[in-house]
Amino acid sequence: MHLAVIGCGYVGLVTGACLAEAGHDVICTDVDAGRIEQLRAGHVPIYELYLDKILDSARKAGKLSYTSDAGEAIRNSDAIFICVGTPPKEDGDADLSAIDNVARQIATEARSPKLVIEKSTVPARTGLELRRALTAYSRSSGLSFRVASNPEFLREGTAVFDFFHPDRIVVGVEDESSARDLREIYRPILDRSFRCPVHQGTCPPADAVPLVVTTINSAELIKHASNSFLALKISYANVIADLCERIGADVEEVTRAMGLDQRIGAQFLRAGLGFGGFCFPKDLQAFVHLAGTVGVDFEILKAAERVNKQRIERFFDKVRQALWVIKGKRVAVLGLAFKANTDDIRFSPALEVVKELIRQGAQVQASDPEAIARTKALFPQASYHTDAYEVLRDAEAALVCTEWDVFRELDWERAGKLMARRLVIDGRNLYSPARMRELGFEYYCFGRE
Ligand code: UGA
Repeated sequence: MHLAVIGCGYVGLVTGACLAEAGHDVICTDVDAGRIEQLRAGHVPIYELYLDKILDSARKAGKLSYTSDAGEAIRNSDAIFICVGTPPKEDGDADLSAIDNVARQIATEARSPKLVIEKSTVPARTGLELRRALTAYSRSSGLSFRVASNPEFLREGTAVFDFFHPDRIVVGVEDESSARDLREIYRPILDRSFRCPVHQGTCPPADAVPLVVTTINSAELIKHASNSFLALKISYANVIADLCERIGADVEEVTRAMGLDQRIGAQFLRAGLGFGGFCFPKDLQAFVHLAGTVGVDFEILKAAERVNKQRIERFFDKVRQALWVIKGKRVAVLGLAFKANTDDIRFSPALEVVKELIRQGAQVQASDPEAIARTKALFPQASYHTDAYEVLRDAEAALVCTEWDVFRELDWERAGKLMARRLVIDGRNLYSPARMRELGFEYYCFGRE
């Protein structure tokens, strides 16, 4: 099928590259002409595992192209994926102006009917507005458009893998023909008729992927309800961690046993600095806002948000307890990205930590495998080291903020010799408290003694 992808951010690039890899002819476009130029020159503007490889192979196979002319992309496709940003407004509501702009472009540039698919995360009922906008803007051409919702469930860092190995593919449609087209678009993934490029075809055979066909409103709700539930789970684990500290229990033992109950599941129960990134915080807010507009008070999600915000305070309680005065102290921050395997620092808890350390007058030296450049632009007063040991040199404390393997695997015997004081405050529970103490470290973490 001929597909257009509008918006070349994380979601758009992964969607475009993976659909091209799966055999479709894909043309990607973005309002940022510089980004299109970069992509054409073979530079991938974001760090995402395997993305460069499949962008490259899809381009070489002639399946993927880029244009800064949205009209060209729209005219040359049967179906269009909208992957533009929906950032939060002051009141928590999602800013949908980019989607409105795209609707106008599609309606005015198209010369034949199209299937228009929302991929960006949007509040429920956006599909209805999109349909209204397309109808209004295409009044003169009289063209008709079909609208569908196909939310993504990709995690940054494993997005390419997730695309080829989804737990489910959700399509919200208005008619049978849209469901048929979407089934055709995803057929190679649904019936696994191609070799997954991530593991060169060595992936274990997975169960059949369910295609869940719903109304558009339901599909939009499924996305927000899923992300919010996962965020809720993390906040729950974090309160359990606080409780473990007061009672004298071990949060890892508690959540591991909880997770063995299949009704609960083991994932998203890791306690620590809390959730960040561009999805959970904003989706939670948008969901609470949406519920409010229809008279439903989503108290439980507001509490999850409150718990998450308090994680940084909890962390600084530990920092103060360990360091007493923060002003003037040389502090190493391990990890800046909001989680491992990404260069994304948006709403990263680690940045809150850096900001607060600088505000309190610490000398901050930070390290991250991928996120230094972006952080440096925001906090030029800190010093940065790509080497995970160099950053610890002469530090009076090491603050672990992101669970990168390079930090998980640090040799603390060696690191301890470089530090001015053997003190680790671990916001991600990466190490064994007993082992750290054995090595002569004062060690603080969440929910474990
Ligand atoms: C999330 C969802 O997991 C995806 O399914 C969804 O498609 C995506 O948002 C989106 O809406 O686009 P992502 O933001 O990439 O994906 O990150 P996650 O891996 O879900 O992690 C979110 C945050 O929760 C991170 O800050 C992570 O450190 C934190 N987290 C995660 C915990 O604190 N504890 C956990 O147990 C798990």
